[in-house]
Parts: sequence; structure tokens; C-alpha cells
Amino acid sequence: MVYAAVLAGGSGLRMGGDMPKQFLHVADRPIIIRSIDAFLESGSVDKVFVAVSADYVCYTKELIAKHIGETDISVVVGGKNRNETLLNVLHSIENINDDDVILTHDAVRPFIDKRIIDENIAAAREYGACNTVVPAVDTILRSTDGKFIESVPVRSEIFHAQTPQSFSVKKLLSLYEKLTDDKMESFTDACSVFLSAGERVFLVNGDRNNIKLTYPEDMERAENIIKCKEEKE
Ligand code: CTP
Repeated sequence: MVYAAVLAGGSGLRMGGDMPKQFLHVADRPIIIRSIDAFLESGSVDKVFVAVSADYVCYTKELIAKHIGETDISVVVGGKNRNETLLNVLHSIENINDDDVILTHDAVRPFIDKRIIDENIAAAREYGACNTVVPAVDTILRSTDGKFIESVPVRSEIFHAQTPQSFSVKKLLSLYEKLTDDKMESFTDACSVFLSAGERVFLVNGDRNNIKLTYPEDMERAENIIKCKEEKE
């Protein structure tokens, strides 16, 4: 089985507004619906889970009914951090098999496409773990005190992490279940969990349009991406 976990349990503090950013509209549809639809339309995923905070479970089900209709998407309650949200999804999967893979995706990245989804599935099957990335455009500087530069990593070796991050379900669950609460809180993503266990994580080529909507100004960029896509069609 190929699962997708659309992670929407955050509160979107940097975006501000009355509702978490995943429920805002870009053009005519909520961001969370665009992300879910990308997986459905790919035709490559067997089952989609959507994780939202408890307050938004009913609202999310209503949105899915309105914009997508009758589906077997499962809406799961998220956790207090992204790792907990993902773990809640993993615990909702019944009968995990050795070859099952899961694509874990930020609900606030609505511009993934079938190519990225299919390459994630292939890499998760072959390597057990992968992360979608784009090469760094700017030079990245390292500073632990925020005052002076300590090092300048070679730019050609630096990548920006996007999502999906995709994994063997069995392996991911077994690594998460060994994590302490501290590590659960401090690891910002599931790939760190693999790396800390000495596992390799393959790089999948992302897309510069696969942006994470974080700040209010990102909404304008999202509208423009949609306009450009519509003009091409
Ligand atoms: N996320 C989640 N569960 C949490 C926290 C975050 O599922 N407890 C999800 C968010 O909904 C988002 C993704 O993880 O789709 C990436 O997180 P981020 O962009 O940092 O979202 P927020 O935590 O909502 O944003 P902010 O940090 O501005 O509050």
C-alpha cells in the first residue's frame, strides 16, 4: 500500500489570521484541499490521511465533503508537534506490511505534482527513506551565536528541504517508537529521526514552486503560481 499523510495540525502563527493557514483559500479553493487533491489526482496513492487539530476535525470533514465529495480519506487528530501529528497518522494505519510506504506532506505546500509523488514512492521503496529537496540558490552561512560567521558550507552541497518526505511505514514507526519525548519535540522532521539512527535518506528532486506557505506575502506568490499554471493549460 502507498499512504499519504497530509499534515495540517499546526496553528500557522507566522501567517496570522482567524484560522490556521491550511484552511485559507488560494484562488477558489482551501490550501488543504489543494494538497489532498494533488495526491488523489496523482492516481499513485492508495489511501490518504489528513491530520488536523481536534478543533478542526468536523470542519475538515465538511470541507472534504464540499470540495471533493464521497471519499475514504481518514481525518485524524494531530499532536502538539509535527512528529506527534505524524505518529498519530501511523497509529491509524491498520495491518502494516513490509513493503508499505508513506508520503508525509506539509498541508501548506499545495503545489506538489505527480512527478514528485511518483519519485518519492520509488525512492521510499528502494531506500526506505527520502526527502524532496531543491539545491540552495543563496550561499548559506553557519553561525551558532547569530553574531559571527563560523563557516561557509560549499553551496553545491547544500539543499533546501521540501516535502514530501517518504518512508517505509514499518521502519518509520519502529524509529518513532524508540524516540524520547525530548527528541520528539526537538527533531523538526522525520528525516532527522532516520539520520539519528544512522540510516541513509535519499534525495528526490523537488520543484522551486513547491513552496511552503508560511508568511502573508506567500499567499500572493501562490496566487501567481496558479495563474501561471492556468495560462499554460
Ligand atoms: N504541523 C502539524 N502538526 C503540528 C505542527 C505542524 O501537522 N503540531 C504541520 C503544519 O500544519 C504544516 C506543516 O506541519 O502543514 C509545516 O509546519 P509549519 O509551516 O511550521 O506550520 P505551523 O506550525 O502551522 O506554522 P507556525 O510555525 O507559523 O505556527
